Amino acid sequence: EDVMSVEKFLKQNTTNSALSEEECDLDIVEFHPSFTYTVFGELEKIFGYKGLQIYLNYAAGSLMTYLQIFYKNTVNKIETIENVSLKVDEIEEPITKVLSSDLLHSISDFSKAVVSESIDFTPNGKKIHQYTLSNENDCVYEIYENNFSDKEFRKFHQRLQTFVIFFIEGGQFVDDTDEKWTFYTLYKKADYCGKNVYSFVGFCSVYNYFHWPDNIRARISQFLVLPPYQQSGHGSKLYNFIRQSILSNTLIVDLTVEDPNEAFDDMRDKNDIKWMLSAGNIKKLDKPLPFKDLHNLMSASKFCKKQLIRVAELCLLKNLN
Ligand code: ACO
Repeated sequence: EDVMSVEKFLKQNTTNSALSEEECDLDIVEFHPSFTYTVFGELEKIFGYKGLQIYLNYAAGSLMTYLQIFYKNTVNKIETIENVSLKVDEIEEPITKVLSSDLLHSISDFSKAVVSESIDFTPNGKKIHQYTLSNENDCVYEIYENNFSDKEFRKFHQRLQTFVIFFIEGGQFVDDTDEKWTFYTLYKKADYCGKNVYSFVGFCSVYNYFHWPDNIRARISQFLVLPPYQQSGHGSKLYNFIRQSILSNTLIVDLTVEDPNEAFDDMRDKNDIKWMLSAGNIKKLDKPLPFKDLHNLMSASKFCKKQLIRVAELCLLKNLN
């Protein structure tokens, strides 16, 4: 049982499960972490194993997790280089530290979780938006809003937060007792053998800061689209939806982003420019303006000062060309 892949196990146990043979032929999507330094140190290397393979298996909707570690053998003597003893690195303990406390401990428990969620799983939180992509007509994408007052979401978040470590450089866990967080989760809903099956696609966390005297300043903290879904427009759809809901919330004064990386800035700039151009007034911008005038022209955008200047500059360049 320990050395069996999840796919093989599911196939062999079809007759014992509540799914038909066809249903048990579940899609398994493999992707790799971008960053592992939080778990294995700056060099991102694991010493002492031959043929090492580490699998973190996630059920696609609930993100119930099962860790598998395979290797052929380990170095049998401790090496000493320049008086420093090198011993076989720990694997399970550092990984487990970034995994949820409801981690599954056997392949059969994991397959049960996969089977049961393909029968009845719906995402946590309130569904607030849905969209389709023009090149896919067999599924719909749904956005849910959540916060930490929901105990079930807190459990789900424990599983989700590992992705922050693996995919966002410098990403850290957030305090899940702080109710000022809003989480937007994005799911794919597809028909699978006559049932609606959900797969987690990505998420965005927004912190609602106090803004004097009685308003809110919203700050995007973590934004992630899982690798298999990147470059298909989901990041843009999620970001545009969040911007739109912030614009229609009269309590929110502006939208900022915590430590954005280049890829996020790129996506944000393109979408902000498209939105500003469709809104109309920026079309007239053909010369640099004092900040006050710029602010008046773009006040409806709720961009923070930095983003406002950035978007105006890009629009100016576009209009000059
Ligand atoms: N087919 C091909 N390409 C497409 C399609 C499509 N149907 N739709 C959009 N694209 C292109 C876009 O034009 C864009 O390309 P361009 O940059 O050349 O113009 C590109 O795909 C990206 O746009 P989206 O698909 O909307 O964005 P994506 O879903 O890939 O999300 C993101 C971008 C969030 C940066 C994602 O890559 C990601 O999660 N990366 C890892 C984590 C990360 O870096 N997060 C941000 C950290 S900063 C922070 O958290 C505040």
